[in-house]
Formats: sequence, structure tokens, C-alpha cells
Amino acid sequence: MDYKRMIADTVRLDGVSAQEIYEMLVPPKDSANGDYCLPCFKFAKQLRTSPIEIARRIAQETARVAALSKVEAVAGYVNYTLDKTMLAAQVLDRVLAQGDAYGASDQGAGKTVCIDYSSVNIAKPFHMGHMLNTAIGAALYRLYAKLGYRVVGINHLGDWGTQFGKLIVAYRKWGDPALVESSGVRGLLDIYVRFHKEAEQDPALDDQARAAFKAIEDGDPEAVALWNRFKDITMREVERTYARLNVRFDSYAGESFYNDKMQPVLDDLRAQGLLEYSDGAQIVRVGDDMPPCLLVRADGATLYATRDLAAAFYRKRTYDFDRCLYVVAYQQNLHFRQFFGVLERMGEPWAQDMVHVAHGMVSLEDGAMSTRSGHVVTLEEVLDKAVEKARGVIADKSPDLQDKDGVAEQVGVGAVVFGMLYNARIKDMVFSFDKCLNFDGETAPYIQYTYARCNSVLAKAGQSECEPDYRGLDNPEAAQLIRLLDRYPQTLVEAARKYEPCIVSRHLVDVAQAFNKFYFEHSILQASPAEREARVRLVRATRHVLASALDLLGIGKPERM
Ligand code: ARG
Repeated sequence: MDYKRMIADTVRLDGVSAQEIYEMLVPPKDSANGDYCLPCFKFAKQLRTSPIEIARRIAQETARVAALSKVEAVAGYVNYTLDKTMLAAQVLDRVLAQGDAYGASDQGAGKTVCIDYSSVNIAKPFHMGHMLNTAIGAALYRLYAKLGYRVVGINHLGDWGTQFGKLIVAYRKWGDPALVESSGVRGLLDIYVRFHKEAEQDPALDDQARAAFKAIEDGDPEAVALWNRFKDITMREVERTYARLNVRFDSYAGESFYNDKMQPVLDDLRAQGLLEYSDGAQIVRVGDDMPPCLLVRADGATLYATRDLAAAFYRKRTYDFDRCLYVVAYQQNLHFRQFFGVLERMGEPWAQDMVHVAHGMVSLEDGAMSTRSGHVVTLEEVLDKAVEKARGVIADKSPDLQDKDGVAEQVGVGAVVFGMLYNARIKDMVFSFDKCLNFDGETAPYIQYTYARCNSVLAKAGQSECEPDYRGLDNPEAAQLIRLLDRYPQTLVEAARKYEPCIVSRHLVDVAQAFNKFYFEHSILQASPAEREARVRLVRATRHVLASALDLLGIGKPERM
């Protein structure tokens, strides 16, 4: 329920629209003055009346609306107070009727959103930078699904390019099959690094690599088999991490999938007269404020952008999306502007449905770990370390807890994921284990702990037949919590509209903090039976919202902690 809207609708002023009133309603500085106030100074000139008189008149003429307990004119302001017990009853009825589905809507019914995210590179380690990307993409995926959209999650694998020729040469020369099998992507990376070192001395290696890549392109069975092996080795590791993160994709169509789908697009571009030759290369000009989009190199090779262009047409054809999101770091800003620009020049009306959801960079505060013998720290190592630390805290705090390992996994992984989703996505971030694992901070463990606290209150409360008396919730702490629960559905809509999971995570922290304030200020189980029932209902509703938001963000929910 939008109470602001309801209040705005009670105000009738000549020449002022309800929307204008709506936008002027704000929470008063001092909450003792009510829930909303309307400053009347702006109307004075137009109505040739003093603000004091206008406020008085509005207050006097306000229709009796059940949810308003008081309307008062004070020094040019109209102050509105909502009836807390009524508000509480309404909000809790609504949340409890929907349970964990609270916040779901059908705004996306009949619409499709494609989300390209994670999009890892074959034979490269799955590192921390991908964590941010994967967490944001997966959260947006669930968010849009909750709002009723059909969502297609796409992992646009980086599985094509000359680097695979180098890898084949390196593997044939120095790759011990058994060792590569056991050391996985790390092993592939090692021989790849060695290739670059040795190629500095022996340029012939580069020629061999070019030939090897050509062999993959030409479908040479042995080369293709090796390339597939590299893919298998990488995907095995990546899938293991996705399983821990509870992340899934509807399509793994990577760059190589578009090998046979680029030519028709290039033909189209040529037919439209958009493809130009420049020093032997083929380009499309996309505006004066950026370099042209390079689509075919002078040696005939296609590029990342060529494959993205083909992929866009394929996705439009296959999924008929209403919007296609690309969750990719801001370093690729120019790439997306160029490639979207090509679609625009082609006159594709859906060019405007393409969105680059840009995000920042992640670095590790714990430098000792990030540079170990030149190794990139993999996401798996980060998750393991977070789980290890969580295990330590849990052993300290809750020595009697059952399934300590399971809870440590949920807490450790949850802490990392939440750490990624707590800031505006465009910001660069320095990841700190201690910050994300602080049980008293704005963190996953704090919220998980609050969730478990709700469970334990509810278990103690048991079932009751008693009718609730909502006067038990007529206090500022309960009122604040109820207001946040009430606003949860709008929060989801806003987060989806702005592609910002942090709007959900911040709200989640607000709810947990408000709950804990209420919990510490007011006895729940000792209250009179009818008031106790009202408070227990508030705990149950809070639990639903915490559960829903944790699910959306992809964070585990330990029942006990
Ligand atoms: N694999 C690329 C990288 O790691 C990201 C791909 C993003 N998706 C896309 N359609 N371009 O940089």
C-alpha cells in the first residue's frame, strides 16, 4: 500500500495536481510530528493566501480516511499521522498471506529478459573479478524472475581466439596429461605462461600457435579434441564454484557458438552500405565521439565484437527478448557502446533494449594472498578461506550448534556474496574478509543471525489461537520495522529498474537492524497473550522478508546459528 499516494489523494488544491502533492510529501524531521508532512509555502503566491491559512484549510477539509489517525496544521505544514495499529494489521496480513512469495508480482508477465553474466574464459582462472559479476547477474536473474519476467541466463563463454592455438602448442610441448588433469586450470595457466616466456626467445612458436588455431578453425579432429579438453577441464572447476554459489544458466552458448553466425550479419551490414574498408580491415562507423567498431581484421579474422553482434541477433531471434542485459565490467564500456551503435545504425528498433549493466573492479585487501608466486587468487580459494574463518567464529559463538560445517559453508560463502552486493555496482571495491564476516556489521552473517533469531523466537512461541491485539505494536521500533516490511515490494521494483541488487541488500540490512532494535526493546514472549500474538506475527512476517531477500541475493539461510 502506498500511504503517501493515499494522503495525496485527500488533498484538493486549485491548480495543484495530486502528483505534485505526492512529490512534496516528506517524512517530518521530528517523527513525533507524524509520518508525513506537506509544506504549504510553495502554494502561497499562487493561491494568494498565507501558508498557515492553506495548511489549516487542508487539515480541516481532509476526508476521514481510516488509516489516518491524525491530521494537524502547524506553522504552514500539514502533519499526517498514520494509525499504527491499523497499519500493522494491514501490512502483516498482507505479508503473512503471501509468505516467502511476498514481493512477487506480475509486472513482467509476458516479457522476456536475457541476462548475459559470469561469462568466464576457458583456460583462465575463475577469479575474484568474476565473483562480483556472477553475484550481480544471478541476483538480477532471481529478481526479474520474482517480478514475473521470463528470464534467460546466458554464460557467453570466452572459448574462442588465438590463445587456444598457443595453448595447444604449449600442451603438446610441455603438458603432462596426468598433471594437467589433476592441476586443472592452474596447470593450463602454467603452460600458457611458459609459452609466452619461451616465445620471446623463439618466435617460431608463434607461427606454430597460429597454425594450431587454424587447425581448430578448420575442424582438425585432434586440435578440436584438445580444445574441447581445455573446455572440459575449465568447466568442471567452474561448475563446482557455481554449485556452491547456487548459480545456474539456461544457456552456455559461448563465443565459438557464433562462428557460423557472423557471416550473415556481415553480409547484411555490407548490403546496407555500413561496412567500410580501412587499411584492409572492415569497420562500421558509429559516431564522432568514439572510434569505429572493428569487425574483421586485415588478415580476415573476426573479433570479440563480431561475435557479440552475431549473438545479439541470435538472442533476439531465439528468445524475442524485451531487454538484453550484459553484466560486464566498466572496462568494456567502449566495446558495448560501439556494438550497440552498430545495431542502431542497422536500424534495429531493439537496439534500445540492449543494456550494459556495468560494474567495478574487485581487489583483495589481503595482499599476501593475492600475489602468491604470481598466482591469481581463485574464487574457490577465497570462498574456502571465508568458510574457514566462519568456522572459527561459529566454534566460538555457538559451540553446541549441530551441522557446524554446513552452517560455516552458508555463512562463509554468503559473506562473500553479500560483500559483493552491498555497494553500488559501479564502484570499485577492496574485498576484506574481516569486514564481510563481522557478525555485528552490515553483513550476511549479521542477517543470517537475525534470521536464525526469528526462527528461535517462533519455535519458542509455538502455535496460538489467540486473536492478535495490534496495540502491542504501537511503539516506534515496531512501527519502523513494519514500515520497512511494507516497503519491501517497492524496493524490489526499484532494484530491478535500476539493475542494482544493492538496493535489496541495503533494505535487508535495514530490516535486520530494525528487527533487532524491536527485539531488544520489547519482550515478545512475556507480553499479554493478545499482544504477544501481534508481536509473534511481526516476527513471522520479518522472517518471510528476510528469507525472500536472502534467496534473491543468493545467500544461504541457516535455520539455527
Ligand atoms: N568473457 C568476457 C570477459 O571475461 C566477458 C563476456 C561478456 N559478455 C559478452 N557478451 N561480451 O571479459
